[in-house]
Amino acid sequence: VTARTREPFLLDPGIVFLNHGSFGARPRVVLEAQEKLRRELEANPVEFLARRSGALLDGALSRLGAFLRSDPEDLAFITNASAGVAIAAASVRLGRGDEVLGTDHEYGAAERTWRQAAAHSGASYRAVQIPFPWRGKADFLSRMEDAITKDTRVLFASHVTSPTAIRFPVEELVALARSRGLVSVIDGAHAPALVDADLSSIGADYYMGNCHKWMCAPPGAAFIRVDRGRHAEVEPPIAGWGMLAEESGSRDHDSYAGTTPLQRRLRWLGTRDPTPWLAVPAAIDFLEGADWAGARPQRAALARSTVEKAAALLGPALPDLGFDLPMRTLSLPECDPIALKELLFGRFGIEVPVIVFGGRQYLRLSFHLYNDESDASALLEALGECFPGGRPLPDISGERP
Ligand SMILES: Cc1ncc(COP(=O)(O)O)c(C=O)c1O
Repeated sequence: VTARTREPFLLDPGIVFLNHGSFGARPRVVLEAQEKLRRELEANPVEFLARRSGALLDGALSRLGAFLRSDPEDLAFITNASAGVAIAAASVRLGRGDEVLGTDHEYGAAERTWRQAAAHSGASYRAVQIPFPWRGKADFLSRMEDAITKDTRVLFASHVTSPTAIRFPVEELVALARSRGLVSVIDGAHAPALVDADLSSIGADYYMGNCHKWMCAPPGAAFIRVDRGRHAEVEPPIAGWGMLAEESGSRDHDSYAGTTPLQRRLRWLGTRDPTPWLAVPAAIDFLEGADWAGARPQRAALARSTVEKAAALLGPALPDLGFDLPMRTLSLPECDPIALKELLFGRFGIEVPVIVFGGRQYLRLSFHLYNDESDASALLEALGECFPGGRPLPDISGERP
């Protein structure tokens, strides 16, 4: 039995929130820390932004680096993982005929970003099919390796996939890329605090991740890690004061636009609110204080048992994944996904994403600190009512009457 730890969060007590995966959710203490920083900023915006922000960001990056096991000098704060994919896609400078290989489990917006970057340079993007249910590491790696051609320049994959909650073996994928002279780009949008990420060991050329999902930091807190040898290759999304300083040698902007090649490309993209990033240490304090590392296996076990109980109600379970995460897909009988999502929220107050993958429907369950067995029971009860005898109610069957 897990302890109910909803109190620190601001979530509406009237809903069952099983969708931490989409936008996260934050505890009060993190927002209070951010609000305190905002007030400091407002006391003297010039002092805070122009004179102090660089040093403050360095401090926050050091803490993040320790959490993710990365040298902070290889990290830069960005607004979200989407921006990170766009930065990587621009920085690899695709040429005519080049090919980027991804998988068919990638986040739609990320795939769109690659397709656009490829189209602008006469390159192409190809999604390698990875069967679901998941067949394991070796199957994944051989499919990726077999897909490499003489035109392949980049291997792109999620650390944890958005539609299917698979943890891809990114360490091995990065090693494969390196052995073939390819650039590795890993989309870690979900990974920080969902898995025990060790970014130095993964060693990707580009790795982007969100702090505003499983780390419970404010929206707008994300990072990119760039391999040391590629800092000067980073294409800044806005070539502003940092690049001016880089080119002219001027020191006028050092306190906020930074001094290293990576800082000068990504730190000062015009006036922005840095408080989501500066509140990242408060989010790490919260996770550590609440012993998320200890609670995470319990939440993963709860996700697994919920999926198993649902299978007893609804049909066969997915085969064993070989790993347990607190985010997990639950296989549904055929149904209308939009109607089901509306019914689950409208009638039962359950916030949970309904996913369509390979023409089949799934729920993606997320169990964070604030979730416990009562949430799982509420979901199972609702599913029992939506699928009596394992068959969808007429209004969610997708069949025209
Ligand atoms: C795998 C993956 N990549 C990228 C993103 C985009 O994250 P953001 O909206 O924070 O940019 C998500 C969001 O869920 C995701 O799941």
